[in-house]
Amino acid sequence: MGNFTFSVVVSILLLHSFALSLNSITTDKHALISFKNSITSDPYAILSTNWSQNSTSVCNWIGVSCGLKHHRVTALNLSGYGLVGTVAPHLGNLTFLRYLDISFNSFTGILPFELSKLRRLKVMNVGANSFTGKIPTWLGSLPQLEKLYLYKNSFLGIIPSSLSNQMLQILNLNYNQLSGSIPYAIFNVSSLREIRIRNNSLSGWLPSDMCDNLPNIEALDISANQLSGQISPNIWKCRHLQELVLSINHFNGKIPSEIESLSILKELYLGLNDFKGKRISI
Ligand SMILES: *[C@@H]1O[C@H](CO)[C@@H](O)[C@H](O)[C@H]1NC(C)=O
Ligand SMILES: *[C@@H]1O[C@H](CO)[C@@H](O)[C@H](O)[C@H]1NC(C)=O
Ligand SMILES: *[C@@H]1O[C@H](CO)[C@@H](O)[C@H](O)[C@H]1NC(C)=O
Ligand SMILES: *[C@@H]1O[C@H](CO)[C@@H](O)[C@H](O)[C@H]1NC(C)=O
Ligand SMILES: *[C@@H]1O[C@H](CO)[C@@H](O)[C@H](O)[C@H]1NC(C)=O
Ligand SMILES: *[C@@H]1O[C@H](CO)[C@@H](O)[C@H](O)[C@H]1NC(C)=O
Repeated sequence: MGNFTFSVVVSILLLHSFALSLNSITTDKHALISFKNSITSDPYAILSTNWSQNSTSVCNWIGVSCGLKHHRVTALNLSGYGLVGTVAPHLGNLTFLRYLDISFNSFTGILPFELSKLRRLKVMNVGANSFTGKIPTWLGSLPQLEKLYLYKNSFLGIIPSSLSNQMLQILNLNYNQLSGSIPYAIFNVSSLREIRIRNNSLSGWLPSDMCDNLPNIEALDISANQLSGQISPNIWKCRHLQELVLSINHFNGKIPSEIESLSILKELYLGLNDFKGKRISI
């Protein structure tokens, strides 16, 4: 290859990567502006005054953080700004996003399918909003997802069994309108540390081998549902349990004495169920 050809090739490659990186941060900006445009009320004027198109970089916008290496948006945190609106599908174009926290606002509608493009997402917190519809099955295919918070919304229908991502550590579905039974697949996610599905309309029972595949579970709160059946002696295998909240359900039978062997248990609520038999001492 002659020198001339070589330098032409290098120039084309450089131009190409320049165009790519230009395209990328432009894509992020476009995504954020579309996100802003589908917000109908911004009572503290957070986005309307700060998310200015004049600003040299979106990385200076409130709630936006960028990675040092790629200079792409890696976190969006707009928790508690009283925002009203829907989530624009364009948010799915923030392909470097790892943290999304839009909790404690008044977002309505569904979680758009396009968010399934967020392949690097580790934390999604959309709790304390007014989202509706079913819990999207695609949430289960986010390969890096570690923490999922959907609490205090109006999600309804069943919990999809796809929600068993093998990296998942925290699953918080408290205060929704979920029904049906808890899918078995969720009790087979060994990375899980917290399962919280308090105050829904769940029915059915807990699998007797529930603790076989939850070696790291620290908190299980499934109170205020319509769950029934017995608590299996297998509970002793959830050795890291610190919080076990089963109150306000229809659990019955004997309270297994194996609960006594959970040595680091700090909170145990079993009240308002149909248990019978003698008291256990802990
Ligand atoms: C937006 O807020 C950030 C952080 O508070 C600040 O550094 C920046 O100057 C603000 N930009 C505008 C246009 O107000
Ligand atoms: C944005 O730029 C326009 C003109 O280029 C200027 O009139 C306006 O004040 C600027 N807005 C902010 C928030 O800096
Ligand atoms: C977002 O900000 C809130 C308040 O500063 C903080 O508590 C929360 O942990 C942040 N979320 C993420 C994902 O960093
Ligand atoms: C971003 O997403 C929207 C809707 O999902 C799409 O229409 C748009 O073309 C995408 N791409 C860019 C580069 O903005
Ligand atoms: C439990 O998960 C493992 C992978 O972690 C899988 O191989 C196995 O088939 C699953 N078992 C059930 C009953 O779903
Ligand atoms: C469930 O939550 C709703 C709303 O927060 C509350 O009104 C209701 O009393 C709760 N139900 C139970 C059984 O705790």
